Amino acid sequence: MRLALLGCGTVGSEVVRLLHDQADDLTARIGEPLEIAGIAVRRAGRDRGDLPVSADLFTTDADALVARDDVDIVVEVVGGIEPARSWITAALRAGKAVVTANKTLLAEDGATLHAAAAEGGADLYYEAAVAGAIPLLRPLRESLHGDSISAVMGIVNGTTNYILSRMTDTGSGFAESLQEASDLGYAEADPTADVEGFDAAAKAAILASLAFHSRVTVTDVYREGITEVTAADVASAAQMGCVVKLLCIAARDGDSISVRVHPAMIPREHPLAGVGGAYNAVFVQARAAGQLMFYGAGAGGTPTASAVLGDLVAVARNRRGGALPVTDSAYADLPVRRMGDVVTRYHVSLDVDDEPGVLAEVASVFAAHRVSMRTVRQSGRGDEAVLVAVTHTATDAQLSATVEDLVKLPAVRRVASVMRVEGEP
Ligand SMILES: NC(=O)c1ccc[n+]([C@@H]2O[C@H](COP(=O)([O-])OP(=O)(O)OC[C@H]3O[C@@H](n4cnc5c(N)ncnc54)[C@H](OP(=O)(O)O)[C@@H]3O)[C@@H](O)[C@H]2O)c1
Repeated sequence: MRLALLGCGTVGSEVVRLLHDQADDLTARIGEPLEIAGIAVRRAGRDRGDLPVSADLFTTDADALVARDDVDIVVEVVGGIEPARSWITAALRAGKAVVTANKTLLAEDGATLHAAAAEGGADLYYEAAVAGAIPLLRPLRESLHGDSISAVMGIVNGTTNYILSRMTDTGSGFAESLQEASDLGYAEADPTADVEGFDAAAKAAILASLAFHSRVTVTDVYREGITEVTAADVASAAQMGCVVKLLCIAARDGDSISVRVHPAMIPREHPLAGVGGAYNAVFVQARAAGQLMFYGAGAGGTPTASAVLGDLVAVARNRRGGALPVTDSAYADLPVRRMGDVVTRYHVSLDVDDEPGVLAEVASVFAAHRVSMRTVRQSGRGDEAVLVAVTHTATDAQLSATVEDLVKLPAVRRVASVMRVEGEP
C-alpha cells in the first residue's frame, strides 16, 4: 500500500519517523507494508538530512503526487484552506483514502470534504485534527454511535491552558505568562489563533458536528479568547474555590445545540480543573455511558503523528479488507442557538463608589433583568470598592442587558470583568 505525504513539518516529519521505526509492526497490523510514494513540501531545497527517507521522494508538486496511480492513501499535514482542500477533494473523488490533521479546513468546509468522500467511496479520517494524540474523534464517531451525547466540554488548546495554568500558579498577568509560553516554545510567534480562541473554535465545530450528528461550522461557534483575563479574575476565581480555563462547550438542549469557546471559572473539584500545563482533556456526557473523560497531549509533532498513524492503519486495513467507508453522519441537522439564548452562571466584578446604598442600586439592576444573585462580596479600597456578584443561571442576553444598565449607574466606575461560571450543579 502506498501513501503520499503532503507536508513534512512538525507533524509530517514525525509521521515519516514513526513509519520508518515501526515499519515491521505496521506491516503486521495492516497485512502488507506501507510505503511512502512521495512527500510534498514547499521548499524542496531544505535540508531534511536527518529524516530516514530518500531525498528523491521530495517534491513541490503536490497535485501531481496526489494524482499518481500508485498512490492509495493521501496524508495531508500541511494545513490551511487552499491548496489543502483541492488536494483532499481530488484524492477522495479518485477513491483514495485521506488522513488529515487539518482542523481549520474541516471546521470551515467539512461538508465539501465529506461530499467528496461519499462521491469517491473513500475513507476520510481526521483524529489528529482535535486534541492531538488523544483518541477522541473515533470514540465519538464510532464507539459512542449507539448512545446519545448531551454535552462535550473540554480544554482543547494547550497554549492557552499553559498560560492560564501559569497565571493560576504564580499570580502573574496574561502578558507575562504569554511571554513565558513563547520562551518555552508553547506559543507560536503569532499566538493570535490560540489566545483569541480561533483554534479552539475550529475544534469545537468538529466536536459538535460529530457529537450531535449535525453540520456545525466555525462560524456557528461563539468565541472569546483569553487576552482579557486578568490576574484579578484568576484571584477572584480562587476565592470562590474555582480556576479559570478556556473551555470549548458543545451542548444539546432539546432540539437545538449551543457551541461556544470562552474563558470560564470552574470549581477546583471539577475533573477539568486539574488539567494543567499544555495538556488537553475533554469531558463527554452521554445518556447511557454517563460521564467520560479523555486526557493527554493535545499537540506536538510525535503525539499528533501517533493519531495520524492510527488513522493510517485504520484506512489501510479498511482498504485491504474492502470495507465500505464510514460516512459523515449529519442526519440530525440540529440548529445552533444564538449565544444570547445560552443559559449559564456569571461572575461580575465591578469597581464602585464606596458609599452606602450602592449595593442596593446594583442589586436592583440585576433584579430588573431577572438575573438572580447567588453571592455578593464587597471589599473597600479607599473611596472605591470592588463588588463581585455571582449569579444564578440566566441567559447571555439577560446578562448583557444587565451589564449595559450597570455601567449607566453613577456609582459604578467600571465593569472590571464578566466571566461565565461553569461546571457546578
Ligand atoms: N503541530 C502540532 O502540534 C499540530 C497538532 C495538531 C494538528 N496539527 C495540524 O497539522 C497540520 C500541520 O501542522 P505542522 O505543525 O506540522 O505545520 P508545519 O510545521 O508548518 O509544516 C507544514 C508543512 O507543509 C509544507 N507546506 C506548506 N505549504 C505547502 C505547499 N503549498 N505545498 C506543499 N507543502 C507545503 C511545509 O513545507 P516546508 O517544510 O518546505 O516548509 C511543511 O513541511 C496543520 O493542519 C495543523 O493544524 C498540528
